[in-house]
Amino acid sequence: MARLEVCNLKYRYPYTDRLALDGITCTIEPGEFIGIIGKNGSGKSTLCQAFTGLVPTFYRGAYGGSLKVDSVDVREVEVDDLCQKIGIVFQNPFNQVTGSKLTVYEEIAFGLENLGIPRQEMHKRIKASMELLDIGRFTDRNPFDLSGGQMQRMAIASIIAMNPEVIILDEPTSQLDPQGSEEVFRAVQKLSQKGITVIMVEHKMEKIAAYSDRVMLLDDGKLIDFDTPQKVFSRDDLAGHGVQAPAFTRIGRGLGVRNPRTQLYPVTLEEAREALVK
Ligand SMILES: Nc1ncnc2c1ncn2[C@@H]1O[C@H](COP(=O)(O)OP(=O)(O)OP(=O)(O)O)[C@@H](O)[C@H]1O
Ligand SMILES: [Mg+2]
Repeated sequence: MARLEVCNLKYRYPYTDRLALDGITCTIEPGEFIGIIGKNGSGKSTLCQAFTGLVPTFYRGAYGGSLKVDSVDVREVEVDDLCQKIGIVFQNPFNQVTGSKLTVYEEIAFGLENLGIPRQEMHKRIKASMELLDIGRFTDRNPFDLSGGQMQRMAIASIIAMNPEVIILDEPTSQLDPQGSEEVFRAVQKLSQKGITVIMVEHKMEKIAAYSDRVMLLDDGKLIDFDTPQKVFSRDDLAGHGVQAPAFTRIGRGLGVRNPRTQLYPVTLEEAREALVK
């Protein structure tokens, strides 16, 4: 399983004079669920693109430092090869759909066909990923006749069918209603339970707090913190970085209720209940 090592990563888009990524250093262990948070323009999407090698291979620009996947620098790996190890799901499922396939099955098969996966193996993988994402009943449906949440799960299924070791989701639920979001979060949690490394950019802090092993806080291209949700959300300067802590943390802070052992504020309902109900 892939370990991601980022060392003093710096990146500037072409024709700009500001660093979009400014000296980021971190290591992500195999199987971790990482949440990335930060205000608009803080560099979250750019960091996701760097993890996939799209920055700087596709976007060009000035690049410094290194990003290694399993000890190999991403610049020494073909983007096609890296794509098989690290899959990315974008904010809007419409941007991810080929637009040329008539059924959900064919849509998911597309990436595998490009890889030249044998037919039987392909069928097995498509079935398994559809089952995992709970979209088996839509096999013959036109991709554009799915709801937003269903379409996003189809986009995730087509990535999962490639058997990635890492899946990156850049605000996968921002276009979805609460039910569609919940469906996607549940699906992502299942991927994590299967041992796939999950890196998710998300503005819904309650979700980040509930699912993440560690949270990256970005501001102005810099990595401000990379620690447990409890530690990151208990920071006094969180608002200064343009992030609002989960409701449970704000209630804990307002009432002065901390975990007696760690002295940190609660981040989930369960933790808040535990801290409040003695
Ligand atoms: N293609 C591009 N060309 C030039 N500058 C860009 C490009 N994409 C992003 N930027 C700039 O890089 C910086 C980081 O942008 P990025 O999209 O990574 O932020 P983000 O944290 O994902 O924001 P958001 O929450 O709005 O999605 C911003 O200043 C942005 O204007
Ligand atoms: Mg973004």
